[in-house]
Amino acid sequence: MDVDAASFARTVLNWYRRYGRHDLPWQQQDAYRVWLSEIMLQQTQVSTVIPYYQNFIERFPNLGQLADADIDEVLQYWQGLGYYARARNLHKAARVVRDEHNGRFPRTFDAVAALPGIGRSTAGAILSFAFGQCWPILDGNVKRVLARCFRVPGWYGQSDTMKQLWYLAESVTPEQQAPDFNQAMMDLGSMVCLKSKPKCEACPLKKLCSSYLHHSQAEYPQRKPSRAKPHKHTLMLLHRHGDQILLWRRPPSGIWGGLWSLPEVDDEHAIELWQQSFLSMAQTQRVIQDSVIRHQFTHYSLDISLAIIEMEQLPEQVSDEENYVWVDIEALANHGLPTPVRKLLTTLQD
Ligand code: ADE
Repeated sequence: MDVDAASFARTVLNWYRRYGRHDLPWQQQDAYRVWLSEIMLQQTQVSTVIPYYQNFIERFPNLGQLADADIDEVLQYWQGLGYYARARNLHKAARVVRDEHNGRFPRTFDAVAALPGIGRSTAGAILSFAFGQCWPILDGNVKRVLARCFRVPGWYGQSDTMKQLWYLAESVTPEQQAPDFNQAMMDLGSMVCLKSKPKCEACPLKKLCSSYLHHSQAEYPQRKPSRAKPHKHTLMLLHRHGDQILLWRRPPSGIWGGLWSLPEVDDEHAIELWQQSFLSMAQTQRVIQDSVIRHQFTHYSLDISLAIIEMEQLPEQVSDEENYVWVDIEALANHGLPTPVRKLLTTLQD
């Protein structure tokens, strides 16, 4: 691949000086804040992240406070941002830094990349932004800029494609000014080299961009031939006794891991068995509402139906009591709930 790395970097840096983002709340901050922002920004846009970042920093202003906090509270502050494994890994990593690095965020690539939730690109971003080190990055925006500019064949799931993209990222990242260059590449990807309808006329790289010169911007990055997303279905159980409702804590891994939600069964025939197993009683009065919500995940869509069950009396005890709790519907804000479940419960409240 023919890369004039020096002129690529110069062009990108000149553009960044005039048009890039220089006053994001996590810029020129300590490693903890840089790290937090990079985790929040994985798969999430800057404008969505900013208010979450600010609330999070207000509650957990340093790594020690995060490490000492309860995971439930951390998830509460993450609620609505999605991809909750990020919050669980962040919290785990804070404890690793507290216990194994004397509370000081590590400064070597291997130590940073060994922390939960930090891959090669995020490690490079943190080390360059927080400590001025020279490491290449390859997040979604940077991949798109490079795949277009150099017409890289294949899609991101393919190891040859990723090898080539990393090779390009290493080649174009300048020894001096890597932090500005990395921020510039992200900004270019999110402001100019857009997924659809890229603003090529405003792009500083148009004279260097192979896709632009071949009028093939729409063909890069190449996509994996897509298969239709499968549909899944679940039935959520809303047990209600006066203003109290029964919440269930989801298992730590899998969708909405560790968040509070409603108990689920496959279909209405399974309700009674569920109640016998967990409440040691069955309740016959119920209203089933079909497909109240369709939620899109990356790999499938989920139709959620709801069974509302008015309890005449509370069961004496609930099995697996650590993972079940009766809460007052007014106090739901104190629990981290998945956004669609919160919406569903709020609609019922109104
Ligand atoms: N996406 C990931 N990291 C980012 C950053 N530092 N600025 C803007 N977008 C980003």
